[in-house]
Amino acid sequence: MKLVQHFRSIPGLAALAAGFFCGMAPLSEESLWVSSLDLKQMSTGWNAAQADRGVSGQPMSIAGKKFERGVGTHAASKIRIDVGGSAKRFVAQVGVDDGAGGQGSVEFIVVGDGRVLWKSPVLTGGKPAVPVDLDIAGVRTLTLRVTEGDDGASHDHADWADARIIVKDGSPPPLTLPPFESIKLATKNFLLEFEVGEDGRLYQQAVGTRAEKERIQRVEESYPQAGDGYIWEPALQVVHSDGNTSTVLQYQGVTRTNEGQGRESTVIKMRDPAYPFNVSLCFRAHHDRDVIEQWTEIRHRESGRVKLERMASSSLLLMPTNLQLTHFYGDWANEMNPVVEQLFPGTKVLDSKIGVRAHQFGLPSFLLSLDGPVAESSGRVLGGSLAWSGSFQCAFDHTGQRVRALCGVNPFGSAYHLKADTTFATPVMIWVWSSAGVGEMSRKLHAWARDFGFRDGHKPRSVLLNNWEATGFDFDFDRIASLYEPAKQLGVELFLLDDGWFGNKYPRVNDRAGLGDWEPNRKRLPNGLAPLAKEAVRNGLTFGIWMEPEMVNPKSELFEKHPNWVIRQPKRELELQRNQLTLDLTRPEVQQFEWSVIQKTLSVPDVSYAKWDCNRYLTQAGSPWLRADRQSHLWIDYVRALYALMDRTAKTFPEIELMLCSGGGGRVDYGALKYFHEFWPSDNTDPVRRVTMQWDYSYFFPGMTLSSHVTHWGNRPLHFACAVAMSGRFGMDLDLAKLSSGDKAICAGAISAYKRIREISHLGELYRLERPHEAARGALNYVATDHSKAVVFVFQLKDGQALAVKPQGLDPEREYMVRELNPAPGRAPIPQEGKRLKGEELMRDGIVPSCAKALEACVIELAP
Ligand code: DGJ
Repeated sequence: MKLVQHFRSIPGLAALAAGFFCGMAPLSEESLWVSSLDLKQMSTGWNAAQADRGVSGQPMSIAGKKFERGVGTHAASKIRIDVGGSAKRFVAQVGVDDGAGGQGSVEFIVVGDGRVLWKSPVLTGGKPAVPVDLDIAGVRTLTLRVTEGDDGASHDHADWADARIIVKDGSPPPLTLPPFESIKLATKNFLLEFEVGEDGRLYQQAVGTRAEKERIQRVEESYPQAGDGYIWEPALQVVHSDGNTSTVLQYQGVTRTNEGQGRESTVIKMRDPAYPFNVSLCFRAHHDRDVIEQWTEIRHRESGRVKLERMASSSLLLMPTNLQLTHFYGDWANEMNPVVEQLFPGTKVLDSKIGVRAHQFGLPSFLLSLDGPVAESSGRVLGGSLAWSGSFQCAFDHTGQRVRALCGVNPFGSAYHLKADTTFATPVMIWVWSSAGVGEMSRKLHAWARDFGFRDGHKPRSVLLNNWEATGFDFDFDRIASLYEPAKQLGVELFLLDDGWFGNKYPRVNDRAGLGDWEPNRKRLPNGLAPLAKEAVRNGLTFGIWMEPEMVNPKSELFEKHPNWVIRQPKRELELQRNQLTLDLTRPEVQQFEWSVIQKTLSVPDVSYAKWDCNRYLTQAGSPWLRADRQSHLWIDYVRALYALMDRTAKTFPEIELMLCSGGGGRVDYGALKYFHEFWPSDNTDPVRRVTMQWDYSYFFPGMTLSSHVTHWGNRPLHFACAVAMSGRFGMDLDLAKLSSGDKAICAGAISAYKRIREISHLGELYRLERPHEAARGALNYVATDHSKAVVFVFQLKDGQALAVKPQGLDPEREYMVRELNPAPGRAPIPQEGKRLKGEELMRDGIVPSCAKALEACVIELAP
């Protein structure tokens, strides 16, 4: 069908051509009848839009006047036309069709790129047609709307009679668009869809099974605001500068930027029509990894401050069918206990209110399974992880029809007074999608994290020896130096000196004193840290140091000098945890002090590693620095100042490797981790507990970020403890000099095995094979990304049988040489030892491990 018809004879139209006025030959013009477009895209309140007829199918007529051309529709109605910026005018005559029998009342609206260009008065049945003639030069999307005229839709037969678009000759023909502007955010296998409703608000197509719906409902709003009709848990709650507690966000536009390497950023802009108050929903889609990062930016130009009471990073909408939530709770030395639950109507909240760390009691990461219980290799899974190291909230608001996952800073006591012309950016929420189970989801998230989630993700990690479990606070130069030689002999590469090296007036000989006084203890280390680091290097080791820059013991010179530098509440007795208090990082002098501590400590020659600890959380969240009416800023400003400090540390000392620790696993989140190389998952290093704990952390974090040390916790066989530790970032926390020669051989064997496999286990892909929870054993394997090598771990937790373990992810066509690494003394070799077997066979028939009894383990290399 030819859509464009020549219409050069309309008087006046040629005069509109630019060339006419300059004495040049006028540009020729074409006119397109709107009725010749695809009207299936037009929404109507009743029946379907009709070309060149009234909506009831009769010839088009308004107040007795007949029209041959035009579009007959019924309120409420809308059509969007892509006119590509090259159209010139829109012309029509509008009114209520005589088919309504003299009844009906409607309003016609013409919108160009979201701006109302023309609006009719309310037109009633029997009234003559009203002419419209509009300049639409530059407009890309032309929208024709008909409203019900505020009295319901009855008899609202509306005619866009004689409606036509005048375009320049040769311009691409206008085309109709879907009735609602839709914005699609697509990765390889995941699609997030938004659409703009009749009311100008932004809605989201719920993730999961598609709902048949006739019209958009408020429950589907993409980022709902409190105070204007939305009755469930809002994403945004604001008090405007004049005290108005309601916000309305209407869609303004979208910008997309190709960031290269398969990444695209999308910013959806929204504005309150009654206030200079803007909200941008920001996304970064990583195409191949199926990862979408999301955050929100809020900005205004109101005359006073605006109070943000709730500002979610993300408020993703899901269908509730078969939806299951897996989350993780814990405590000190007992982090990461998984709970799986079906979501029911009501609001399920995962949160923390402890300020300076997100976690230990509940991880700000979770799994949403869309097809019933979560499985490794099947089912649709959405993983969520909030990059924030302070109080967080992930609320799953099940309204009966939808589930909204609201994630962000915990609104608890955190109201933020935002100045005009200042952007408030929320933390980033990371979403990762898989249609093939949580195994694939983890592999994608790990691949993303290696590039963007933590530092140096493509560099395998060394073997570390830490003195904490071996010496605790009880050491001096000679004691530490005595650990070096045996460490080197066993193959250790890095020595980490833990807590206890500082404090003079109040020596740090236990956890009751000295924190805050970062001068090396003169009795223990008469010449400071440098000689100890130098001695490590002389023994062929690199040297690392522990620090806890954010904290202070009341028994310290720092506290004596600056009692008002700590976070506390006036008129309340100081509440200590581990005998310590948190310094108030919102105070500029404290920021300077902490930076000087870090800078001085990390500038000691030969320091190449540091462990950043944080052994308490906030319980009396008061800042002597912040104004009385800004106390609620503490929760957010603390974490922001902390990130500034961490960022400065990473930038100033790019060669220094950093471990993130918080009294065990209190800070396990991608907010802080991006400045670090690894994290300390728990003070509980009992390998039996670590098998399940590390399994659960691995849903979100790659093995190379999981510090995993061999200690005497639980008094488990050393061979078993070594195998468990080798599956993460391997370390030891043992007095090596005191080990028997048999145990030394086990450790040396484990270290050399780790050095063989770390390229695979740190840089390869993880396959979780057998879930260890409540089971007799657990098993997993890593495969090099080129599939040339793999390593399989089997951890026997209860007495059982040496059943074959089936690796995954191998190249079926390739041959692999099977070899057990660091076999336990006295056990028979595995049946396939030394055999070359095809990947296909190994994956089908499995490998029989050497372990069958509780606390035995087996590490098997599959190599070319
Ligand atoms: C808590 C950490 O989790 C431990 O590993 C150790 O570094 C101590 N702090 C030192 O005080």
